[in-house]
Amino acid sequence: MAREKWASKLGFMLAAMGSAVGLGNIWRFSYVAGENGGGAFLILYLGFVFLIGIPVLLAEFSIGRQGQSDVVGSYKELAPNKPWYLAGFMGIASSFLILGFYSVVAGWSLYYFWNYINGSFWTIPDAGYGATFEGLISNTTTPLFWHGLFMVLTILVVLTGIKKGIEKASKVFMPTLAVLLVLLAIYSVTLEGAGEGLRFLFQPNWAKIDSGVILAALGQAFFSLSLGMGAMMTYGSYLPKSESLPSATVGIGIMDTVFAIVAGIVIFPAVYAFDISASSGPPLVFITLPGIFAQMPFGSIVGLLFFFLLSIAALSSAISILEVPVAYFMRRFKWSRRFSSIFIGVIMYFLGVVVSLGFGVWSGVTPIGDLGILDSMDYVASNILLPLGGLAIALFVGWQWSVKEALSASDMTNLGVRYVWLGIIKFLAPIFIVLIFLQSIGIIG
Ligand code: PFF
Ligand code: NA
Repeated sequence: MAREKWASKLGFMLAAMGSAVGLGNIWRFSYVAGENGGGAFLILYLGFVFLIGIPVLLAEFSIGRQGQSDVVGSYKELAPNKPWYLAGFMGIASSFLILGFYSVVAGWSLYYFWNYINGSFWTIPDAGYGATFEGLISNTTTPLFWHGLFMVLTILVVLTGIKKGIEKASKVFMPTLAVLLVLLAIYSVTLEGAGEGLRFLFQPNWAKIDSGVILAALGQAFFSLSLGMGAMMTYGSYLPKSESLPSATVGIGIMDTVFAIVAGIVIFPAVYAFDISASSGPPLVFITLPGIFAQMPFGSIVGLLFFFLLSIAALSSAISILEVPVAYFMRRFKWSRRFSSIFIGVIMYFLGVVVSLGFGVWSGVTPIGDLGILDSMDYVASNILLPLGGLAIALFVGWQWSVKEALSASDMTNLGVRYVWLGIIKFLAPIFIVLIFLQSIGIIG
């Protein structure tokens, strides 16, 4: 059977943007920025997005489109008998780790959406949103239902190929989410105490930077851009060779970043206005946002709309994560798309069960240091495996390919910035990633 293809370049763009924009921009960006001191983290994150992220994203797309196969197959196709494909397996491992927790958090979002439908979040619950949220996630069964529902939706989209439907839908929903976020940002900066939140987000306090903050900023850049795992490689592989990559890449990178910054402008003023700790971790947006909605005019409708759109954004990201192993297993074991999606989705569901219980009965389980189950899986995937995947991508395009091959595969041959890009891919990105790793394991100060 011939491999599937995007119907148009727009289809590819929408799918790739749908992959990039998700919980990472709103949920993860806010809490990671909050835990890592705000302003200085933001600068590092922006630096990594533009200096490393976007150039490596172009490299990842190029490998996929050139290899015309899944994350393992593309490397094997382009460099048979070389070990590059091991990076592909790393990507598959990351996809399990990431979707395992992503789906749990998306389940929280769905549950919030439901609470805005049935009215229970229209007014502040007696216990407050914070305690109500803690009650939800520490519960054994409720979050598992919503996580399950989200996983079922993800599987359905991946197995039926109604991806086209999702692409069309994201054409409407993504701009709506953008407009809603901007409106919320405008409302949020008028909150009492907003100034302090904005200072937290935008005023760099360089004293807060240490190796942990640097690694967190790198991990966030990779996570948010869907970079280093093979999602973008797989999406690139459904693109015919005739489409041009650089402008699409830059567009995706900038849009993803703007979403994160605007989300930050929504969240941090509210964090200070409602006296929530910026370092609350994963619950941060779930306790902050409903507080904003409760105060603002038409807040119940805004909340309903917001959590609907957030869930859709999460869905369009989740399908790109599931697509990575599904594409691999389909090719490697000749599984049908249907069987592949269900089988892998179910395994990921059970991983998510572990994550979810990590907020309740297993809250004492800390696989890495004092990190709980979600944080540990996220740390390994986002801060280690994704940058390592990015390192492999950069080294492959920079060193395995000739200059000519690299430029032609990326459609950079005629662009003035081609050598800047190539310099980044060959030297700067790999060196930065390695240095950040060495620093974070304490080998260099
Ligand atoms: N980029 C997505 C987000 O910001 O929510 C998450 C994600 C998707 C991470 C795909 C990794 C990935 F391969
Ligand atoms: Na993102």
